[in-house]
Parts: sequence; structure tokens; C-alpha cells
Amino acid sequence: MQSLPSFLQAHNTPSDIAAILNGLMTSCVDISNKLQQGALAGILGCAGEENIQGETQKKLDVISNDIIKDQLASMSMVKGMASEEEDFPVACNENGEYLVLFDPLDGSSNIDVNVTVGTIFSILKTTKDVDASKPEAYLQAGTEQVSAGYVLYGPSTILMLTTGQGVHSFAMDPATGEFLLMRENVQIPAQTQEFAINMSNQRFWLPEMQNYVADLLQGEEGPLGKRYNMRWVAAMVAEVHRILTRGGIFMYPYDNRDPSKPGKLRLMYEGNPMSMLIEQAGGKASTAHAPIMEVTPTDIHQRVSVVMGSIDEVDVALSYHKK
Ligand code: F6P
Ligand code: MN
Repeated sequence: MQSLPSFLQAHNTPSDIAAILNGLMTSCVDISNKLQQGALAGILGCAGEENIQGETQKKLDVISNDIIKDQLASMSMVKGMASEEEDFPVACNENGEYLVLFDPLDGSSNIDVNVTVGTIFSILKTTKDVDASKPEAYLQAGTEQVSAGYVLYGPSTILMLTTGQGVHSFAMDPATGEFLLMRENVQIPAQTQEFAINMSNQRFWLPEMQNYVADLLQGEEGPLGKRYNMRWVAAMVAEVHRILTRGGIFMYPYDNRDPSKPGKLRLMYEGNPMSMLIEQAGGKASTAHAPIMEVTPTDIHQRVSVVMGSIDEVDVALSYHKK
């Protein structure tokens, strides 16, 4: 079975991008191991107290953030990084030409209940003259991403990766920490009968979204003429992984709980990288009004409304917003 480094080499991935991806995977193996030890670590040390080395026990999302930060900071091709867990971006190596944006532990509320979480990443190209300590340096549209992917920490640890030439999946061998190729050119079925949305927010959605989901719930007796199933894992990595595996539609739409937040998910760490994967696998990713990857970012931490998945079903959802 082909390992990630040899796959990247065989597909002529630029050496700097391959190095960043291999470095990120070193971090993700480390995070995967920490998650495996999670329950034991809880027994062996109490949060908020110092461990034997005098270090305060940290939450796993902070630990994951530190693991990725330390790895990227040591890489000459990384000019800077921005993390969902950090208020400000971090400049790395002056001569680097790449920026890495990441959500170190997506769905982290699932940790307490021993359910799937993940790491999401996005890589942008930049120029040597930009100041990577400034948020403005990172404000490129999703269409500019040179690579994106996620690592899902579930029953097995899986990487889904794109460098703009399709989506490929790799499984981590726990014995060696190598990521081995499982599937090349993953394709999302165009049609689906499965949707994912947090129904508890229903009353806060716009009428267009309310109407679409009401019709989904009507099943074969409604205008869509088919029965739908629903799933909600509360980790975007898990929802997108299910869609890349068997199709579906995932939505975290605009809601009016807080008018300053157009949705919950973050454009730069979640919306853009997941949209690149979905579109590279033949699916569609929209804000409900425009392709997510065409949104011009104005803030590294900005939020975005998300409707993504099987292309025909996303088009059905969008048709309600055009009415
Ligand atoms: O990162 C935000 C996130 O945890 C996503 O991974 C997930 O899809 C969503 O929030 C879950 O939201 P809620 O708390 O509304 O279920
Ligand atoms: Mn997240």
C-alpha cells in the first residue's frame, strides 16, 4: 500500500506543499495518540492541576493547537499560520511562501463523550514580502487554496486530502503512524436521501431554509417525493466524512440567534477547506446565495452560512432561496 509521502511524490506535488502535508500528519499522529490516551490521561492527572513535570494539564484542543503550532513553526516553507484557537496569526519563517490555516480539534465538545473529532487544514500560497503576523495576509478567497483536508479521529484515524486534483483518502496505521492510501478520486453521489442540520435552531432560520427543511420532513408525501433520513454528529469533520463516503447534505445555515454571526462555522478554518474537498469530489458548497469559496474574506475568524454535499440536493436547497 502506498504511503502519503510516496503518493505525493508520484503525483508531482510541489515539494514545499508535500513537506507541509507530511509535517501536518506528524502532528496528527501525535494528536491521535493523545486522544487515545484521553480517558487514561484524565485518570492520571486532573485538569487545572500540575502534572509531574510541573506542567498544568491542558485541554485536548489546546494541546492539539500547540502540537501543530510547534511543528509548523519549525518548517522553513511556512511563512505563517492562523488557528481557530488563536486570536492572532503567528508569523513563522520569513522566507517561507505558504500560509497554513487550521482548526486543531473540530467538534471538541465530542471529546467528553468519546465521540469523533477531527483536525481541518487549508494551505495558501503567499509572497515573501507579506507580513504574516497580520490577519490581512491570510484574507484570500477559498478558490486560492493550494491544498485542504482533514484528519478524522474515529474508530480509525483517516486523512481526506486534496491538492486540487481530486480527493484521496488515507488511513493511519497505528503501528507505524504512516498514512496509507485507501481510495483515490473519491466521488460524492449526486443524489441523496440523508440530511444533517441542527434542528433545535429551526425557529432562528430564514423562512427559505425553514421551507426547505419542512419539505424534507414531509418525505415521499411532500413536494420532494422521497423519504429522508437525518444524522447529526456535531463535528463537521464527521458530517463531511459521511458525505464524502456515501453522499448527503450538511447545513449550518444563517440564523438570527445573534445577528453579528452569519452562521456558526468559520470561513477560513472550516468553510473553505471543506468546500474545496466537497467540490473536488464532485459536490457543491454554497452559502445558500454564492459559492463559499468565492466569498471575499474580511476577517480571519469570520463566520459563514454553509450548505454543502451532493450536488443535486444542494441545488434543490438553493432553489428555495431563489424563490
Ligand atoms: O466547530 C464547530 C462545530 O463543532 C462543528 O464541528 C459542528 O458541525 C458544529 O459546531 C456543531 O454545532 P452544534 O453545537 O450546534 O451542534
Ligand atoms: Mn470546528
